[in-house]
Amino acid sequence: MNRNTDRENFIPFARPSIGEEEEEAVIKVLRSGWLTTGKIAEKFETEFAGFVGSKYAAALNSATAGLHLALEAAGIKRGDRVITTPFTFASTAEVIRYLGADPVFADIEEETGNISPDLMFKTLSEYNEREKAKIKAVIPVHFAGLPCSMEEIEDAADKFELQIIEDSAHAFPVKLAEGRYKGRYAGTVGDMGVYSFYATKTITTGEGGMLVTDSKTCYERVKVMRLHGIDRDVFDRYNSIEGSWKYDITAPGFKYNMTDLAAALGLVQLKNAVNFLEKRRAIARYYIETFSQYDFLKIPDYSPEHAWHLFVIRIAPEKLTIGRDGFIELLKEEGIGTSVHFIPLHIMTYYKKRYGFKENDFPESFKRYRNSISIPIYPGLSDDSLQLISETVVKIGKKYYKKAT
Ligand SMILES: Cc1ncc(COP(=O)(O)O)c(C=O)c1O
Repeated sequence: MNRNTDRENFIPFARPSIGEEEEEAVIKVLRSGWLTTGKIAEKFETEFAGFVGSKYAAALNSATAGLHLALEAAGIKRGDRVITTPFTFASTAEVIRYLGADPVFADIEEETGNISPDLMFKTLSEYNEREKAKIKAVIPVHFAGLPCSMEEIEDAADKFELQIIEDSAHAFPVKLAEGRYKGRYAGTVGDMGVYSFYATKTITTGEGGMLVTDSKTCYERVKVMRLHGIDRDVFDRYNSIEGSWKYDITAPGFKYNMTDLAAALGLVQLKNAVNFLEKRRAIARYYIETFSQYDFLKIPDYSPEHAWHLFVIRIAPEKLTIGRDGFIELLKEEGIGTSVHFIPLHIMTYYKKRYGFKENDFPESFKRYRNSISIPIYPGLSDDSLQLISETVVKIGKKYYKKAT
């Protein structure tokens, strides 16, 4: 059967879990007379900060905005350098360029997809020795929801005087496992951390993000810069007795605030976050149990210290007569939506042109990209769908398995 022709039965790659409570919360805001940033966004910030154990949280309209504001608050400016991974989404590096600074890439660890601490140390030593412009900050990306090796990243930050801005777009809610950060949430270890509430993320506000920090100075800068550099909140301006029409602009800021409509969704989603995580974990366990016996697939180890935003299978090309793209096409024909995380930035036209990168400059990122398929993982995925996805992956793998010669 070609299930793809049957739109009704197509299993999407991602699907948000939105229930009646979210609907009611949004309707309440719609009827309240105040739609944009106000008391609900403020409540979301307070509750989110409390959840992750951060002193301050700033609600924003995306994680991209959060990363931009974090770098700005960290004082990154034209001519500076920021180290990160090429194995990430556009946002992580583009925000560096927004400020006129340049990304310096260090490749990933093969197994996790996270930045390799060894390569990061090597790059930092060599780069800072060789170049005039020093690397000022690091953006570790917790790929798929698995926290990076924060101990080593912090060691590098101490040694090379870097600020740490965690790209936690995938990593909510997940605590770090071992060592000195035990019990702390990914995103709260560095100087600043940024979460995404984009429609496919572990909790969603449609579009949205949150920046967290323990630094009052950074928080205050972020608060001003997220709304045009204005020195007071809009809500005060229009709705409180103390509010007035007067405001001052202290810097050329941005328009990155979160609406109360989005925050209303966020508050309900936050309440469900742990429950959502349990469901993602159960799906991850099922996939791992099903796939671990097949040598044509590489799968992640099960870990409770993982937000399981993505479940990435990697095909072993030496075992199969089809490649990753062919595998994806066959899954699509069977009505299963997939994605690829990530097409590494160093093979994108802009970065190739600006920095002269070649595919094999970051071989682990390139290899991982070539073999990876992200398959559906979300709380609303039914048992039947989960079984069908697993069976289909195995069926394709067996059908195209290279016979021993
Ligand atoms: C690693 C990473 N960082 C940042 C972002 C940006 O998130 P947003 O869409 O909320 O701006 C994404 C989005 O998918 C991402 O995957």
